[in-house]
Amino acid sequence: MARFIQIAVQDQAAIRDELAAGLSAQSAVIAPKHFYDLLGSKLFDAICELPEYYPTRTEAGIFKGWRDEIAEAAGSGRVLVDLGAGNCEKAASLFGVLQPSCYVPVDISTSFLKQAVGRLQLQFPSTAMLGVGIDFSSTLELPAEVPPGPRLFFYPGSSIGNFTPQEAVAFLSRVRRACSGNGSLLIGVDLLKESTVLRAAYDDALGVTACFNLNVLNNVNRLLDADFHVNDWQHRALFNEGQGRIEMHLEAKDNLIVRWNGGLRRFDRGERIHTENSYKYSREAFVALLHEAGFSSVQCWTDPREWFMVCHARAG
Ligand code: AVI
Repeated sequence: MARFIQIAVQDQAAIRDELAAGLSAQSAVIAPKHFYDLLGSKLFDAICELPEYYPTRTEAGIFKGWRDEIAEAAGSGRVLVDLGAGNCEKAASLFGVLQPSCYVPVDISTSFLKQAVGRLQLQFPSTAMLGVGIDFSSTLELPAEVPPGPRLFFYPGSSIGNFTPQEAVAFLSRVRRACSGNGSLLIGVDLLKESTVLRAAYDDALGVTACFNLNVLNNVNRLLDADFHVNDWQHRALFNEGQGRIEMHLEAKDNLIVRWNGGLRRFDRGERIHTENSYKYSREAFVALLHEAGFSSVQCWTDPREWFMVCHARAG
């Protein structure tokens, strides 16, 4: 049985206040962390299987193709802290080369993570594991039960792109401080490329990304006691060239009113709720970001098309 610790159960009142403030803002927003309820996490797994969504399989190809070089840079026997572990599959595929002394998957989606780490522990009975349920975007204070020793933070999938560059530097600085001693970071980042490729990845033909985006409304209904009707909204994904980011929005199909416990908002037809940014970087810009966060000895690997990049960086 895998060990699991839920720390800092999120303050429900604070979540509701934040959501209500976002919906009441002149340009309405819902934070992307609310995508990941149980269904949202499963929809994200389905996205990763889509032909248009290249990041997951391109990153996996980099890990496979540069396995030995990455293992040499990252070292073995570390405490492997997997940020936003989800189904834990990416880290598990590296267990053979990284030989972690302990695997610490961390995620906000606790029920999904619990199931995943339970399955993984059966598959790898001799690897010590400790699942941690936490919103790591607000704190990286890991529980005292995490064993001592150099940490390898693992942040794959280009989730760093869901922060603004400024937030990304602040977050990476926190990761660097949490590396303790001789620690390091192994991170995946999506690179700038042709906008047609980018747009298709976030607006797939089957409509799975649309479901993922719309499902956030179901989660907000639960969290805020709101009355969003999913059918009143449509998925929009656009590439903002100036900012170098994909933006996801939900667009009202008609004039409508949304009510929640303690408030309401009128939306005009065509008005949007901004649900996610996904920043894409050039190699140079991302390495500069790592340096700005205080990391050094940065090594990077890419795929032949240079669509995605994996970097290893030292905290010391
Ligand atoms: C989790 N994150 C890196 C994904 C991305 O590509 O920004 C979330 C996602 N949104 C739509 N599709 C995938």
